[in-house]
Formats: sequence, structure tokens, C-alpha cells
Amino acid sequence: MKRVIIKNASQLVTCSGYKAKKGKEMNHLGIIENGALVIEEGIIKWVGTTPNIPRQYRKVAQEIDASNKTVLPGFVDSHTHFLFGGYREEEYSWRLAGYDYMEIMKKGGGIVNTVSHTKEATKESLINVGMKRLNSMLSFGVTTVEGKSGYGLDYETEIKQLEIMKKLNKRHKIDVVSTFLGAHALPKQYKGKEDEYIDYMINEVLPYVVDRELAEFCDVFCEEGVFSIEQSERILVTAREQGLKLKIHADEIVNLGGAKLAAKLKTTSADHLLMASDEGIREMELNNVVATLLPGTAFSLKENYARARYMIDNNLAVALATDFNPGSCFTESIPLIIALATLYMNMSIEETITALTINGAAAIDRADQIGSIDINKKGDIVIHEFPSYKFIPYHIGVSTVETVIKDGKVVYDKEDKLC
Ligand code: NIG
Ligand code: FE
Repeated sequence: MKRVIIKNASQLVTCSGYKAKKGKEMNHLGIIENGALVIEEGIIKWVGTTPNIPRQYRKVAQEIDASNKTVLPGFVDSHTHFLFGGYREEEYSWRLAGYDYMEIMKKGGGIVNTVSHTKEATKESLINVGMKRLNSMLSFGVTTVEGKSGYGLDYETEIKQLEIMKKLNKRHKIDVVSTFLGAHALPKQYKGKEDEYIDYMINEVLPYVVDRELAEFCDVFCEEGVFSIEQSERILVTAREQGLKLKIHADEIVNLGGAKLAAKLKTTSADHLLMASDEGIREMELNNVVATLLPGTAFSLKENYARARYMIDNNLAVALATDFNPGSCFTESIPLIIALATLYMNMSIEETITALTINGAAAIDRADQIGSIDINKKGDIVIHEFPSYKFIPYHIGVSTVETVIKDGKVVYDKEDKLC
């Protein structure tokens, strides 16, 4: 039997819970001082204080001393577009010159640009680049990541993206949860024929995605100039009928009513929400939709941040994620997200940690398995180098992650990487 004990942690930040934390609950981190935990066969078996580790667990295969350190569950990055071909570095200069996201799209940049590169990319090159990106995420303490398709916009490349993510899930230590985002943008040949494109995705691509179990969620870019409320509803409802869970890119650039649609459909999460109305937010709360906020994107696009404070004060469950993608937010940096959330979204440190752990897990419907240090959850644990969780935002923009344990095995150690 493989058994690991982590002990003597100055703070064991459990984030304890098996479902999303709403409103005020987001401040409860469930901290145990001089904490310890036991993992057997990859699953957490016991959590408590070091002097109380039961005798039966003391014959251990591996002991990890976390003296003067903080132990947290692995971070869950619940919204990314990490698998893509090529880059769009030119767009950064365009943004500096004053073009906004939609103007860049019209200038020939944007999502369709990445679509061409992703179509051209070989499977092997995508696997290589995917592995590298996942390695980097692991160094930031991410143990589960959600990844979307949406850089294919046709049968062949959407499936290629999803099949590669499935492979990456097997090959890499990080768990990859896949989302079908066929309705991410309109390919040029469908100009003015949005409904036909949605039909194509529904009839020709979605059934295959479901049949081959290539995705767990379906998402849509519901936005003015992209897909309307009606079109978004159509693909989401069909996807649900076929067994997928739902997400939505909602009210990012204008207040189109995406938050309300999320509430109506009781999607697992609604994401972005920069322009979401008070009413949309209220309806999301009533329907237990997790609000996934992506401050890195607002920062990169120089937009106002989503109203995290208002949402939490109105009892929403807020998750934070990177939105890692080649256009609006080319970063997998968790420390950047934490800095933006605490300094510019007025979230407390505790809320920020909840948003990246148990609420991130809830945003991908995994709160019963990951996102906290609780009995019977996966042994996905991160040891941070300082004695209190308060150092995590304070060491601004720098990762405090020292050791990552995935399914009960050490898979990253900062010191070992240095020669
Ligand atoms: O979440 N808003 C739409 N999709 C992505 C951006 C994708 C891209 O620009 O490549 C987002 O920000
Ligand atoms: Fe996104």
C-alpha cells in the first residue's frame, strides 16, 4: 500500500467542503495549525493535527515534513483554452495602439487566426506544446485544468483538439477536463449564416463528441457579433439533451443577457460576466450557477473587472481562472490572477483562495472529488514555501509553490529543478 504522510504544516488550509461556497462562506478556509494529512493509494484518508496522527498510519512509506510551510489543495484552473497552434504576439502591439478585442477580430486577428494555425499544426506538435504548457501550470500548483476546443470550427480540427486533450489527460499528471466549444467564433465561409453554423455543429460535430466521450462540458461564446442568446440556447440545450454539462462565455463585452440565460438553463458556470446586470447576477444566485471570473483577461484587454465584490455580497459562488489563450489572455500565471483579484476586484485573500480551489472544482462539477483537503478526496496537495497563506498574494506575482503532490505522488519539486 502506498501511504504518504504530510506533517508539521504551520497551516493546513483545508478549504473544506464538498460543494461550491457561496457569499460569506467563501471566507472560511478551515485552517488547521500544526496540520497533517494521510494519503493512501492517492486518496486522502485522514486530516488533523500532527500530534493526533493515529498510530495505525505511522508505519509510512513516505513522510513529508512541512514545517514552516503552508499546505493547500491543488489549484483548479477551471477556464482555459490552452491547446492551440501558433501565437498572436502582433495583437499585443495592436492593443497598445488602441484597438479593442472586436476591432482586432475585424482587422484579421482574433480567434480565426488561431484557427488557421491550429488546423495546420500536426498532432505531434500540439501534444508537445500541450505537455509544455501543462508543465508550466503544474509549477503554479495547478492539479486540474479545464481545456476547451474552439480553435477548429470544423469537424476535423474540433475533434483533433479534443482527442489531443484526452491524450494529454492520460499522459500528463494534471487532470484535464475537456469542454466542446465548437461555437467559439464564426468561420469566414459562414459569414451571415450563424444559424446554419450552429446547425452544422449540432448535427455534424456534437454527436461525435458525445459518442466518443471527448468532452464533459459544452460551452458557447454568447456575445454581440458572435452568437446570439437564441443560438447559444439552441446549442446548449441540445448538448445537455445528449448528456453534456454546460458552461457559457457570458456578458463579456456587452450585456446581452448571457447571465440570465445561464440562470435559465442552470448551467454549471457562467464565465467572464464583466457586463452582467444586477438581475442576471440575482438569477444566477437563485439557480446556483458558479460565476467564473477571469481577471487576467480584463487586465490584458484593459477592460473594467467583473464585479466580484457585488457578486459575493449578493451570495454568489465565485471561481477564478486564468482563461489562458493566445489572444485575450496569454498567461497561465496563478500569482497574477491572485494579485488582480485581491488588489483590483476587492476580493479578500480567503475568497481568492476559495475561488481557486473548492469553487474552481465546483465550476467543473468536481467539488465532491477535488478542491479541498477532505477525507475521500484526491490526494492533490500543494506545499507553499511560507508559514502562512497570507504570503501567497503578498509575494506579489511570484509563485510560492514548492512541492506539488498529485494523486498522492510528488510530481513537482522546485528545488529538484535547480542544478
Ligand atoms: O475567453 N472570449 C472568447 N474566447 C476567449 C478568447 C479566445 C481568443 O482570443 O483566442 C476568451 O477570452
Ligand atoms: Fe474563454
